[in-house]
Amino acid sequence: MPTITCIEDLRILAKRRVPKMFYDYADSGSWTEGTYRANSSDFDRIRLRQKVAVNMENRSLAAQMLGQDVAMPVALAPTGLTGMQCADGEIKAARAAEAFGVPFVLSTMSICSIEDVAAATQKPFWFQLYVMRDKDYLGRLIDRAKAAGCAALVLTLDLQIIGQRHKDVKNGLSAPPKPTLANILNMATKVRWGLGMLGTKRHGFGNIVGHVKGVENVGNLAEWTNKQFDPALSWDDVAWIKERWGGKLVIKGILDADDARLAVKSGADAIIVSNHGGRQLDGALSAIEILPQIIDAVGADIEVHMDSGIRSGQDVLKAVAMGAKGTYIGRAFLYGLGAMGEEGVTKVLEIIHKELDLTMAFCGHREIGTLSRDNLIRADEVFNPYLR
Ligand code: GLV
Repeated sequence: MPTITCIEDLRILAKRRVPKMFYDYADSGSWTEGTYRANSSDFDRIRLRQKVAVNMENRSLAAQMLGQDVAMPVALAPTGLTGMQCADGEIKAARAAEAFGVPFVLSTMSICSIEDVAAATQKPFWFQLYVMRDKDYLGRLIDRAKAAGCAALVLTLDLQIIGQRHKDVKNGLSAPPKPTLANILNMATKVRWGLGMLGTKRHGFGNIVGHVKGVENVGNLAEWTNKQFDPALSWDDVAWIKERWGGKLVIKGILDADDARLAVKSGADAIIVSNHGGRQLDGALSAIEILPQIIDAVGADIEVHMDSGIRSGQDVLKAVAMGAKGTYIGRAFLYGLGAMGEEGVTKVLEIIHKELDLTMAFCGHREIGTLSRDNLIRADEVFNPYLR
Protein backbone atom coordinates (compact mmCIF):
# COMPACT_ATOMS: atom_id res chain seq x y z
CA MET A 1 0.00 0.00 0.00
CA PRO A 2 1.57 3.35 -1.03
CA THR A 3 2.03 6.09 1.58
CA ILE A 4 -0.92 8.45 1.32
CA THR A 5 0.02 12.11 1.73
CA CYS A 6 -2.51 14.03 -0.36
CA ILE A 7 -5.97 13.84 -1.94
CA GLU A 8 -4.44 13.00 -5.32
CA ASP A 9 -2.97 9.78 -3.83
CA LEU A 10 -6.49 8.76 -2.77
CA ARG A 11 -7.92 9.62 -6.19
CA ILE A 12 -5.41 7.31 -7.85
CA LEU A 13 -6.23 4.52 -5.42
CA ALA A 14 -9.99 5.05 -5.83
CA LYS A 15 -9.62 4.85 -9.60
CA ARG A 16 -8.04 1.42 -9.14
CA ARG A 17 -10.60 0.14 -6.64
CA VAL A 18 -13.97 1.52 -7.79
CA PRO A 19 -15.73 0.15 -10.90
CA LYS A 20 -15.15 2.44 -13.85
CA MET A 21 -18.78 3.47 -14.27
CA PHE A 22 -19.04 4.76 -10.69
CA TYR A 23 -15.56 6.31 -10.58
CA ASP A 24 -16.37 8.11 -13.85
CA TYR A 25 -19.73 9.25 -12.50
CA ALA A 26 -17.99 11.02 -9.63
CA ASP A 27 -15.08 12.32 -11.62
CA SER A 28 -16.72 13.86 -14.65
CA GLY A 29 -18.00 17.28 -15.61
CA SER A 30 -20.58 18.17 -18.23
CA TRP A 31 -19.84 18.47 -21.98
CA THR A 32 -16.30 19.82 -22.55
CA GLU A 33 -15.60 19.74 -18.78
CA GLY A 34 -14.33 23.33 -19.16
CA THR A 35 -16.05 24.57 -15.98
CA TYR A 36 -14.98 21.44 -14.11
CA ARG A 37 -11.35 22.22 -14.96
CA ALA A 38 -11.75 25.96 -14.25
CA ASN A 39 -12.92 25.15 -10.72
CA SER A 40 -9.40 23.91 -9.97
CA SER A 41 -7.31 26.10 -12.25
CA ASP A 42 -8.96 29.28 -10.91
CA PHE A 43 -7.92 28.30 -7.39
CA ASP A 44 -4.37 27.98 -8.73
CA ARG A 45 -4.52 31.54 -10.08
CA ILE A 46 -4.86 32.86 -6.54
CA ARG A 47 -1.56 33.08 -4.67
CA LEU A 48 -0.98 33.41 -0.95
CA ARG A 49 0.88 36.19 0.85
CA GLN A 50 3.50 34.60 3.09
CA LYS A 51 4.32 36.26 6.43
CA VAL A 52 7.42 35.48 8.48
CA ALA A 53 8.51 35.95 12.08
CA VAL A 54 4.91 35.93 13.29
CA ASN A 55 4.00 33.90 16.39
CA MET A 56 2.44 30.65 15.12
CA GLU A 57 1.85 28.93 18.47
CA ASN A 58 -1.53 27.59 19.62
CA ARG A 59 -3.42 27.58 16.35
CA SER A 60 -7.11 26.70 15.95
CA LEU A 61 -9.24 25.97 12.90
CA ALA A 62 -12.45 25.90 14.92
CA ALA A 63 -15.31 27.75 13.28
CA GLN A 64 -19.10 27.79 13.02
CA MET A 65 -21.28 26.86 10.07
CA LEU A 66 -24.99 27.71 10.47
CA GLY A 67 -24.38 28.31 14.15
CA GLN A 68 -22.95 24.79 14.58
CA ASP A 69 -19.44 24.38 16.00
CA VAL A 70 -17.16 22.70 13.45
CA ALA A 71 -13.56 21.46 13.74
CA MET A 72 -12.79 23.38 10.53
CA PRO A 73 -15.04 25.21 8.03
CA VAL A 74 -15.37 22.17 5.78
CA ALA A 75 -18.44 19.95 5.34
CA LEU A 76 -18.97 16.80 3.27
CA ALA A 77 -21.05 17.83 0.26
CA PRO A 78 -24.17 15.96 -0.82
CA THR A 79 -23.09 13.59 -3.60
CA GLY A 80 -25.31 11.19 -5.54
CA LEU A 81 -24.60 7.43 -5.54
CA THR A 82 -22.10 7.70 -2.68
CA GLY A 83 -22.99 4.16 -1.63
CA MET A 84 -21.78 2.95 -5.03
CA GLN A 85 -18.22 4.20 -4.46
CA CYS A 86 -18.08 1.79 -1.53
CA ALA A 87 -20.70 -0.38 0.19
CA ASP A 88 -22.80 1.63 2.67
CA GLY A 89 -20.79 4.67 1.62
CA GLU A 90 -23.11 7.30 3.12
CA ILE A 91 -23.06 5.63 6.55
CA LYS A 92 -19.25 5.39 6.45
CA ALA A 93 -18.80 9.02 5.35
CA ALA A 94 -21.32 10.28 7.94
CA ARG A 95 -19.52 8.41 10.73
CA ALA A 96 -16.12 9.78 9.66
CA ALA A 97 -17.53 13.34 9.54
CA GLU A 98 -19.20 12.96 12.93
CA ALA A 99 -16.01 11.69 14.58
CA PHE A 100 -14.02 14.54 13.04
CA GLY A 101 -16.55 17.21 14.00
CA VAL A 102 -17.67 18.45 10.57
CA PRO A 103 -21.16 18.37 8.99
CA PHE A 104 -22.21 15.57 6.66
CA VAL A 105 -24.86 16.37 4.04
CA LEU A 106 -26.86 13.38 2.80
CA SER A 107 -28.01 13.59 -0.83
CA THR A 108 -31.59 12.86 -1.91
CA MET A 109 -29.96 10.51 -4.47
CA SER A 110 -28.14 8.48 -1.83
CA ILE A 111 -28.01 4.71 -1.53
CA CYS A 112 -28.36 4.62 2.27
CA SER A 113 -31.63 6.23 3.34
CA ILE A 114 -32.17 9.11 5.76
CA GLU A 115 -33.28 6.56 8.35
CA ASP A 116 -30.22 4.31 7.75
CA VAL A 117 -27.82 7.20 8.34
CA ALA A 118 -29.76 8.44 11.38
CA ALA A 119 -29.61 4.96 12.93
CA ALA A 120 -25.83 4.75 12.36
CA THR A 121 -24.90 8.18 13.78
CA GLN A 122 -25.37 10.04 17.06
CA LYS A 123 -25.37 13.70 16.03
CA PRO A 124 -27.71 15.37 13.53
CA PHE A 125 -26.56 15.40 9.90
CA TRP A 126 -27.87 17.72 7.16
CA PHE A 127 -30.17 16.63 4.34
CA GLN A 128 -30.03 17.81 0.70
CA LEU A 129 -33.29 18.10 -1.22
CA TYR A 130 -34.11 18.03 -4.92
CA VAL A 131 -37.50 19.43 -5.92
CA MET A 132 -39.73 16.73 -7.42
CA ARG A 133 -42.90 17.07 -9.48
CA ASP A 134 -44.63 14.74 -7.00
CA LYS A 135 -45.27 17.22 -4.19
CA ASP A 136 -46.76 14.53 -1.94
CA TYR A 137 -43.52 12.59 -2.09
CA LEU A 138 -41.50 15.80 -1.67
CA GLY A 139 -43.47 16.73 1.44
CA ARG A 140 -43.00 13.26 2.90
CA LEU A 141 -39.26 13.41 2.19
CA ILE A 142 -39.02 16.73 4.06
CA ASP A 143 -41.00 15.23 6.95
CA ARG A 144 -38.66 12.20 7.04
CA ALA A 145 -35.62 14.49 7.31
CA LYS A 146 -37.37 16.37 10.12
CA ALA A 147 -38.29 13.15 11.92
CA ALA A 148 -34.65 11.95 11.66
CA GLY A 149 -33.56 15.15 13.42
CA CYS A 150 -31.60 16.62 10.48
CA ALA A 151 -30.09 19.96 11.52
CA ALA A 152 -30.39 21.71 8.15
CA LEU A 153 -32.08 21.31 4.79
CA VAL A 154 -29.84 22.03 1.80
CA LEU A 155 -32.11 22.83 -1.13
CA THR A 156 -30.39 22.40 -4.51
CA LEU A 157 -31.69 24.76 -7.21
CA ASP A 158 -29.29 24.05 -10.08
CA LEU A 159 -30.28 20.52 -11.09
CA GLN A 160 -33.87 20.52 -12.27
CA ILE A 161 -32.55 19.37 -15.61
CA ILE A 162 -29.39 17.32 -15.75
CA GLY A 163 -26.19 18.33 -17.57
CA GLN A 164 -24.84 15.70 -19.92
CA ARG A 165 -21.68 13.97 -18.75
CA HIS A 166 -20.42 12.04 -21.75
CA LYS A 167 -18.80 9.29 -19.71
CA ASP A 168 -22.12 8.39 -18.03
CA VAL A 169 -23.77 7.97 -21.42
CA LYS A 170 -20.85 5.89 -22.73
CA ASN A 171 -20.84 3.73 -19.59
CA GLY A 172 -24.56 3.13 -19.79
CA LEU A 173 -25.36 5.07 -16.61
CA SER A 174 -28.25 6.66 -18.45
CA ALA A 175 -31.82 6.09 -19.55
CA PRO A 176 -32.55 3.30 -20.19
CA PRO A 177 -29.79 1.72 -18.07
CA LYS A 178 -27.41 -0.28 -20.24
CA PRO A 179 -24.12 -1.04 -18.49
CA THR A 180 -21.78 -2.11 -21.26
CA LEU A 181 -20.23 -5.58 -21.30
CA ALA A 182 -16.88 -3.88 -20.69
CA ASN A 183 -18.36 -2.27 -17.55
CA ILE A 184 -19.72 -5.54 -16.27
CA LEU A 185 -16.33 -7.22 -16.81
CA ASN A 186 -14.59 -4.26 -15.18
CA MET A 187 -16.86 -4.55 -12.13
CA ALA A 188 -15.94 -8.22 -11.76
CA THR A 189 -12.26 -7.24 -11.34
CA LYS A 190 -12.96 -4.97 -8.34
CA VAL A 191 -12.86 -7.70 -5.72
CA ARG A 192 -12.68 -5.51 -2.61
CA TRP A 193 -15.60 -3.39 -3.86
CA GLY A 194 -17.60 -6.46 -4.85
CA LEU A 195 -17.14 -8.16 -1.47
CA GLY A 196 -18.36 -5.00 0.22
CA MET A 197 -21.42 -4.91 -2.02
CA LEU A 198 -22.18 -8.58 -1.29
CA GLY A 199 -22.15 -7.69 2.40
CA THR A 200 -24.91 -5.06 2.17
CA LYS A 201 -28.50 -4.98 1.03
CA ARG A 202 -28.27 -1.32 0.11
CA HIS A 203 -27.93 -1.17 -3.68
CA GLY A 204 -30.77 1.11 -4.78
CA PHE A 205 -31.83 4.68 -4.00
CA GLY A 206 -32.60 4.38 -0.29
CA ASN A 207 -34.70 7.53 -0.07
CA ILE A 208 -36.81 6.56 -3.03
CA VAL A 209 -37.16 2.78 -3.29
CA GLY A 210 -40.35 1.78 -1.55
CA HIS A 211 -41.55 5.38 -1.55
CA VAL A 212 -41.98 5.96 -5.31
CA LYS A 213 -43.08 3.36 -7.84
CA GLY A 214 -40.73 2.32 -10.65
CA VAL A 215 -37.38 3.44 -9.26
CA GLU A 216 -35.41 0.45 -8.16
CA ASN A 217 -31.83 0.61 -9.26
CA VAL A 218 -29.13 3.17 -9.83
CA GLY A 219 -29.27 2.77 -13.58
CA ASN A 220 -32.62 4.53 -13.46
CA LEU A 221 -30.98 7.72 -12.19
CA ALA A 222 -31.08 9.80 -15.36
CA GLU A 223 -34.45 8.40 -16.40
CA TRP A 224 -35.97 9.13 -13.03
CA THR A 225 -34.33 12.55 -12.81
CA ASN A 226 -35.70 13.45 -16.23
CA LYS A 227 -39.18 12.34 -15.25
CA GLN A 228 -39.37 13.39 -11.62
CA PHE A 229 -37.29 16.53 -11.09
CA ASP A 230 -39.51 19.56 -11.56
CA PRO A 231 -38.22 21.79 -14.37
CA ALA A 232 -40.87 24.36 -13.42
CA LEU A 233 -39.20 24.96 -10.03
CA SER A 234 -39.55 28.60 -8.91
CA TRP A 235 -38.99 30.75 -5.82
CA ASP A 236 -42.63 29.99 -4.87
CA ASP A 237 -41.62 26.35 -4.34
CA VAL A 238 -38.78 27.57 -2.12
CA ALA A 239 -41.32 29.39 0.07
CA TRP A 240 -43.47 26.24 0.30
CA ILE A 241 -40.47 24.08 1.21
CA LYS A 242 -39.25 26.57 3.80
CA GLU A 243 -42.68 26.56 5.43
CA ARG A 244 -42.99 22.75 5.41
CA TRP A 245 -39.45 22.27 6.75
CA GLY A 246 -39.51 24.98 9.42
CA GLY A 247 -35.80 24.67 10.26
CA LYS A 248 -32.44 25.98 8.99
CA LEU A 249 -32.52 26.31 5.20
CA VAL A 250 -29.48 26.47 2.89
CA ILE A 251 -29.85 27.24 -0.82
CA LYS A 252 -27.30 25.50 -3.02
CA GLY A 253 -26.32 26.32 -6.58
CA ILE A 254 -26.09 30.13 -6.58
CA LEU A 255 -23.69 31.63 -9.17
CA ASP A 256 -25.15 35.08 -9.66
CA ALA A 257 -25.44 38.13 -7.37
CA ASP A 258 -29.09 38.81 -8.32
CA ASP A 259 -30.01 35.19 -7.53
CA ALA A 260 -28.14 35.56 -4.24
CA ARG A 261 -30.34 38.58 -3.40
CA LEU A 262 -33.45 36.51 -4.19
CA ALA A 263 -32.16 33.81 -1.87
CA VAL A 264 -31.81 36.41 0.89
CA LYS A 265 -35.40 37.54 0.20
CA SER A 266 -36.58 33.93 0.45
CA GLY A 267 -35.51 33.92 4.10
CA ALA A 268 -32.85 31.21 3.72
CA ASP A 269 -30.16 31.02 6.41
CA ALA A 270 -27.23 30.42 4.04
CA ILE A 271 -26.37 30.03 0.37
CA ILE A 272 -23.81 27.79 -1.29
CA VAL A 273 -22.01 29.40 -4.21
CA SER A 274 -21.61 26.37 -6.45
CA ASN A 275 -21.61 25.22 -10.06
CA HIS A 276 -22.33 21.65 -8.97
CA GLY A 277 -18.70 20.66 -9.40
CA GLY A 278 -18.78 21.63 -13.09
CA ARG A 279 -21.45 18.98 -13.73
CA GLN A 280 -24.25 21.26 -14.93
CA LEU A 281 -23.72 24.43 -17.05
CA ASP A 282 -20.48 23.90 -18.94
CA GLY A 283 -19.07 27.39 -19.53
CA ALA A 284 -20.36 28.79 -16.23
CA LEU A 285 -17.98 30.78 -14.02
CA SER A 286 -15.95 28.84 -11.52
CA ALA A 287 -17.31 29.11 -7.98
CA ILE A 288 -14.16 30.74 -6.59
CA GLU A 289 -14.21 33.32 -9.42
CA ILE A 290 -17.72 34.60 -8.62
CA LEU A 291 -17.47 34.14 -4.84
CA PRO A 292 -16.14 37.64 -3.94
CA GLN A 293 -18.82 39.39 -6.00
CA ILE A 294 -21.58 37.41 -4.29
CA ILE A 295 -20.09 37.98 -0.84
CA ASP A 296 -19.91 41.71 -1.52
CA ALA A 297 -23.55 41.68 -2.66
CA VAL A 298 -25.12 39.68 0.20
CA GLY A 299 -22.43 38.71 2.72
CA ALA A 300 -23.81 41.18 5.27
CA ASP A 301 -27.31 39.65 5.02
CA ILE A 302 -26.72 35.90 4.80
CA GLU A 303 -24.04 33.29 5.51
CA VAL A 304 -22.20 32.52 2.27
CA HIS A 305 -20.65 29.09 1.75
CA MET A 306 -18.99 27.64 -1.35
CA ASP A 307 -18.14 24.37 -3.07
CA SER A 308 -16.75 23.24 -6.46
CA GLY A 309 -13.05 22.63 -6.92
CA ILE A 310 -11.74 22.20 -3.37
CA ARG A 311 -9.06 19.52 -3.24
CA SER A 312 -6.76 20.85 -0.51
CA GLY A 313 -6.51 22.90 2.66
CA GLN A 314 -4.92 25.66 0.59
CA ASP A 315 -8.13 25.85 -1.47
CA VAL A 316 -10.22 26.01 1.72
CA LEU A 317 -8.04 28.84 2.99
CA LYS A 318 -8.48 30.81 -0.24
CA ALA A 319 -12.29 30.52 -0.08
CA VAL A 320 -12.39 31.43 3.62
CA ALA A 321 -10.00 34.36 3.17
CA MET A 322 -12.27 35.55 0.36
CA GLY A 323 -15.08 35.65 2.94
CA ALA A 324 -16.82 32.24 2.74
CA LYS A 325 -18.07 31.09 6.15
CA GLY A 326 -17.97 27.45 5.10
CA THR A 327 -16.79 25.17 2.30
CA TYR A 328 -17.78 21.70 1.08
CA ILE A 329 -15.75 18.85 -0.39
CA GLY A 330 -17.46 16.40 -2.74
CA ARG A 331 -15.07 14.49 -4.99
CA ALA A 332 -12.24 14.86 -2.47
CA PHE A 333 -14.12 12.78 0.13
CA LEU A 334 -15.46 10.35 -2.51
CA TYR A 335 -11.86 9.52 -3.47
CA GLY A 336 -11.08 8.66 0.15
CA LEU A 337 -14.25 6.59 0.41
CA GLY A 338 -13.61 4.68 -2.81
CA ALA A 339 -9.99 4.08 -1.86
CA MET A 340 -10.33 3.05 1.78
CA GLY A 341 -13.93 3.31 3.04
CA GLU A 342 -14.55 5.15 6.31
CA GLU A 343 -10.83 5.24 7.11
CA GLY A 344 -10.27 6.92 3.74
CA VAL A 345 -12.76 9.70 4.52
CA THR A 346 -11.06 10.26 7.87
CA LYS A 347 -7.75 10.42 6.00
CA VAL A 348 -9.17 13.08 3.65
CA LEU A 349 -10.32 15.19 6.60
CA GLU A 350 -6.94 14.80 8.32
CA ILE A 351 -5.06 15.78 5.17
CA ILE A 352 -7.21 18.86 4.57
CA HIS A 353 -7.05 19.85 8.24
CA LYS A 354 -3.25 19.64 8.27
CA GLU A 355 -2.88 21.53 4.99
CA LEU A 356 -5.26 24.24 6.18
CA ASP A 357 -3.51 24.55 9.54
CA LEU A 358 0.00 24.86 8.09
CA THR A 359 -1.12 27.17 5.28
CA MET A 360 -2.84 29.43 7.81
CA ALA A 361 0.37 29.55 9.85
CA PHE A 362 2.53 30.34 6.80
CA CYS A 363 0.12 33.20 6.07
CA GLY A 364 0.75 34.52 9.58
CA HIS A 365 -2.55 33.59 11.27
CA ARG A 366 -3.43 31.50 14.29
CA GLU A 367 -7.20 31.57 13.88
CA ILE A 368 -9.38 30.99 10.90
CA GLY A 369 -11.58 34.01 11.64
CA THR A 370 -8.77 36.54 11.15
CA LEU A 371 -8.01 35.54 7.54
CA SER A 372 -9.01 38.14 4.95
CA ARG A 373 -8.58 39.05 1.29
CA ASP A 374 -5.33 40.67 2.36
CA ASN A 375 -3.85 37.15 2.43
CA LEU A 376 -4.60 36.64 -1.26
CA ILE A 377 -2.82 37.85 -4.38
CA ARG A 378 -4.06 37.33 -7.93
CA ALA A 379 -1.40 35.60 -9.98
CA ASP A 380 -1.84 38.02 -12.90
CA GLU A 381 -1.30 41.02 -10.58
CA VAL A 382 2.09 39.61 -9.73
CA PHE A 383 3.18 38.90 -13.28
CA ASN A 384 1.52 41.56 -15.43
CA PRO A 385 3.76 44.53 -14.56
CA TYR A 386 6.82 42.54 -15.57
CA LEU A 387 5.32 41.36 -18.82
CA ARG A 388 4.62 44.85 -20.14
C1 GLV B 1 -26.21 14.74 -8.96
O1 GLV B 1 -26.20 15.45 -7.98
C2 GLV B 1 -25.19 14.76 -9.96
O2 GLV B 1 -24.44 15.76 -10.03
O3 GLV B 1 -25.11 13.78 -10.70
